[in-house]
Amino acid sequence: MSSARLLPGAPVAEQVLSEVAASVAELRAAGVTPALATVLVGDDDASAGYIRIKQRQAAELGFVSPHVHLAASASQADLHAVLADFNADKSVHGVLVQYPIPGRLDYDRALAELDPDKDVDGMHPVNMGRLALGLPGPLPCTPAGIEALLAFHGVPVAGREVVILGRGATLGRPLAMLLAQKRPTANAAVTVVHTGVADWPRYTRRAEILVAAAGVPGIVRPEHVRPGAVVVGGGVRYEGRRLLPDVDESCAEVAGAITPRVGGVGPTTVAMLFRNAVDAARRQAGLG
Ligand SMILES: NC(=O)c1ccc[n+]([C@@H]2O[C@H](COP(=O)([O-])OP(=O)(O)OC[C@H]3O[C@@H](n4cnc5c(N)ncnc54)[C@H](OP(=O)(O)O)[C@@H]3O)[C@@H](O)[C@H]2O)c1
Repeated sequence: MSSARLLPGAPVAEQVLSEVAASVAELRAAGVTPALATVLVGDDDASAGYIRIKQRQAAELGFVSPHVHLAASASQADLHAVLADFNADKSVHGVLVQYPIPGRLDYDRALAELDPDKDVDGMHPVNMGRLALGLPGPLPCTPAGIEALLAFHGVPVAGREVVILGRGATLGRPLAMLLAQKRPTANAAVTVVHTGVADWPRYTRRAEILVAAAGVPGIVRPEHVRPGAVVVGGGVRYEGRRLLPDVDESCAEVAGAITPRVGGVGPTTVAMLFRNAVDAARRQAGLG
């Protein structure tokens, strides 16, 4: 039977989004209408659905969302032209390119074309550089969401041993940089393990906080978890609409606290996107 405390993402997201809504209202009162532009390429139903959800949420929070839908046949240059227009448009503060885009297009190249100050995913190379240097800028959403989740649930991070399984660009690598920063909600001793560390369980078994960021369903099992540790499931793989998490459910029998199978890191990731968007609007409006 599970004894681990659950660490849901929904209340964290709710708190972040209420702060975002207040910040949007403040901007509007100052005569600035925050705009989060969205770009969809192609006709993938799931991507179209995700973008609709984000647009609805943006509207609820008080953003306007100019939208461009490019045909599946669009070229890389077409996509770059859309981004150049949004870069030049002073009424647009943030731009979201829904991932994935059709396979023959290069997402990273397109992202590099975006004005880094309008990058709400926090994944532009300049923003990764800012993160590495500890400079202000939009943070990658999933890592920022994990830091917020731990802080919200009162999980101390400072001075503790965090082990991250995975060094991918969206999750493991930026999370390691974030949690090693000198701030009260970070300041951890961070170790990153990956396929180059054959005996990675040696490290995860000593972690006070273990973050799964591999994208390999069920890779983290109870024998990889230190009894009483905090386990955060970041890595997931989708098989169709079925979500397969990295963390095997039985880890709850060993962990002291654990994110739920569904509704852990996901909601906090989306909330951080809107936080980046409103922060971008504030900075561009000269309001902080
Ligand atoms: N919940 C959310 O909202 C959210 C948001 C974003 C991403 N994610 C998920 O987070 C995961 C990571 O994303 P990413 O883009 O950073 O992934 P990625 O680039 O694919 O990186 C995966 C990492 O896991 C390591 N790994 C894979 N299999 C392993 C194994 N058998 N043993 C040890 N290490 C292994 C890889 O090691 P090598 O480097 O040695 O190959 C790599 O460093 C994905 O599952 C993604 O879906 C979730």
